[in-house]
Amino acid sequence: MKIDGSVALVTGAGRGLGQAFARELVSRGAARVYGAARDPAAVTEPGVIPVALDITDPEAVARAAYQCADVSLLVNNAGVMRASTFIDAPSLDNARLEMETNYFGTLSMCRAFAPVLAANGGGVVVNMLSVTSFYNNPLDASYGASKSAEWSLTNGIRLELARQGTLIVGVHAGFIDTDMAAGIDAPKISPESVARQAFDAVEAGQVEVLADERSRTIKASLPRDHELIYPQVQEFWDALTQGAR
Ligand SMILES: NC(=O)c1ccc[n+]([C@@H]2O[C@H](COP(=O)([O-])OP(=O)(O)OC[C@H]3O[C@@H](n4cnc5c(N)ncnc54)[C@H](OP(=O)(O)O)[C@@H]3O)[C@@H](O)[C@H]2O)c1
Repeated sequence: MKIDGSVALVTGAGRGLGQAFARELVSRGAARVYGAARDPAAVTEPGVIPVALDITDPEAVARAAYQCADVSLLVNNAGVMRASTFIDAPSLDNARLEMETNYFGTLSMCRAFAPVLAANGGGVVVNMLSVTSFYNNPLDASYGASKSAEWSLTNGIRLELARQGTLIVGVHAGFIDTDMAAGIDAPKISPESVARQAFDAVEAGQVEVLADERSRTIKASLPRDHELIYPQVQEFWDALTQGAR
């Protein structure tokens, strides 16, 4: 699909990666770019039309699909990460919020916009996933579970929407230089690079983007994850939590 002349909607467009997605769409000549955010006043990117949208609110999602009925490219970017473990987190609140947003919110958007995309010739869905879709890390354990669920959703809707000609692109990355990873001291890819790679894939008709070295290495290691991934994660976690127990 050519982005030049397309009509796109980006969720979570008020900051971080969502803002970079919206800016890249404008620079590639999208005819209209809707920037959806819980607070539409946060959408300040030139050339982007603010839309009020909390993806966990089914009525707001339905309203957005009605209001943006000309969309042919949906970018499901909005997400939350609460850095919660499975066992020691004080309650299930963070795990539920992550699943409610990253999995159910994205599912809700895909369901609402599937008929819109069909009416506009098939179109494209870009789902912003993570390297943690592929493996679990106690640093952000329940977030990883929600991103694995979102990865499964991404692969599943590709099958269900094939007949209407919708391209489904899953984008994976390790740390990206935004608020979400602000407290992390580790190599980070820029949001601009992720946005460029995602839309290159859209234009080339590719279904998956492994945006950085970390996501490429982890995906390649999956057939031997219990030899190549989990022992290192365990060692890291044990060192980090030594003395804390
Ligand atoms: N940063 C990383 O290291 C990293 C790595 C891999 C994948 N990702 C993924 O990249 C995506 C963008 O994250 P980011 O790095 O830009 O993080 P961010 O700076 O924390 O931004 C998150 C965005 O999601 C929006 N959002 C959260 N809950 C929402 C809801 N219920 N309805 C609508 N919007 C909601 C936020 O809006 P508000 O301004 O209203 O809070 C914000 O615009 C997420 O899906 C994240 O999981 C991030």
